[in-house]
Amino acid sequence: MSIDFAGEAMALQSELVERRRDFHRHPEPAFQETRTAGIVAAQLSELGIEVRPEIGRTGVVGLLDGHRDGPTVLVRADMDALPIHEAGQSDYASRTPGVMHACGHDGHTSIGLAVARILSNHRSEFDGRIKFVFQPAEEIGDGAAAMVADGVLENPRPDFSIGLHLWNELPVGQVSVTPGPCMASADVWHCTITGYGGHGALPHLTQDPIVAAAQIVSALQTIVSRNLKPLEGGVVSVGSIHGGDAFNVIPPLVKLEGTIRTYQPETRQMIHQRLVDICEGMAASMSCRAEVDIALMTPAVVNDPAVAEQIAAIAARHVGEQNIRHDICTMGSEDMSRLMEDIPGCYFFVGSANSERRLDFPHHNPRFDFDEQALTIGTAILAEAAASLAGYKP
Ligand code: NI
Repeated sequence: MSIDFAGEAMALQSELVERRRDFHRHPEPAFQETRTAGIVAAQLSELGIEVRPEIGRTGVVGLLDGHRDGPTVLVRADMDALPIHEAGQSDYASRTPGVMHACGHDGHTSIGLAVARILSNHRSEFDGRIKFVFQPAEEIGDGAAAMVADGVLENPRPDFSIGLHLWNELPVGQVSVTPGPCMASADVWHCTITGYGGHGALPHLTQDPIVAAAQIVSALQTIVSRNLKPLEGGVVSVGSIHGGDAFNVIPPLVKLEGTIRTYQPETRQMIHQRLVDICEGMAASMSCRAEVDIALMTPAVVNDPAVAEQIAAIAARHVGEQNIRHDICTMGSEDMSRLMEDIPGCYFFVGSANSERRLDFPHHNPRFDFDEQALTIGTAILAEAAASLAGYKP
């Protein structure tokens, strides 16, 4: 018997909206998603799904077995909100001052629960098992790693990992499934430049770390312009620079920090090396010393081409071939990549903007909101994709 995914998602529309608005009213920031996780766990167990709570602190895992052995499909939804004060006036606006679902993760959690409901009604129609992963702390880049540390990728190990993001850069009704890299790796770098402080009127008696920092900031721009292959993507940004307190004092040290974004591991390696060489070399040439420290945050999100093709075909059935795009790539990052390392998977974008209704503010804006029709579209595609990867055949 074939499953009417679109019809079943449509039948859950009011539940999807109600639940999303409830999460929206009660946003919880990274690793504090206890209310959200409690609702998720209660819903999953009501559906007869085996629940494993407190995976990655506030994360929840649900295991739904199909009717015989087959592939395990990880379906991920993130749950956390942002430290932003909501400026919108909807009746479901945040009731917690300074915290807001400004990225759409309220929608992702609601979709994840709707997918769980649909698939739990059809467990005799797919083979393997679905591993629902409700993840905390995506916004600080730590939630997926915490769940991996608690064994989310073992027992059973997933054969596929999939997930979606509601996307306000696309109108509702469009979907983008990008084969290959679609979101960048993100690293944080720090550089401390040590010189020798002194009087601003007597620079010859100092080793000026401010002048060295200025040269370093300029020279770092040559990594992307001169070292990166011209057709490859990469970003090196300086996000903060601190040094000195007085107009007539040359300070003893300056601190810089910034971020690095890339798609390819070799590019990431190359940029790290150039960053260290430039900071150290440039500082030395100015009689100062630089110490560089680079912290790896998240790897790039790289979609498996075969899984992406399969999901694009499913999405086309729901929104029409003309509404499928394959070109959304961003230098933004996502720790979904940790759940896709060595596991073929696909992370795709479900259009959620509606400019006529002014539901098109960018993600992380205090007026962010989305067209809730995207909830049913996302549910139908994600449910069908999960079932298909687990062996469901119409
Ligand atoms: Ni997000």
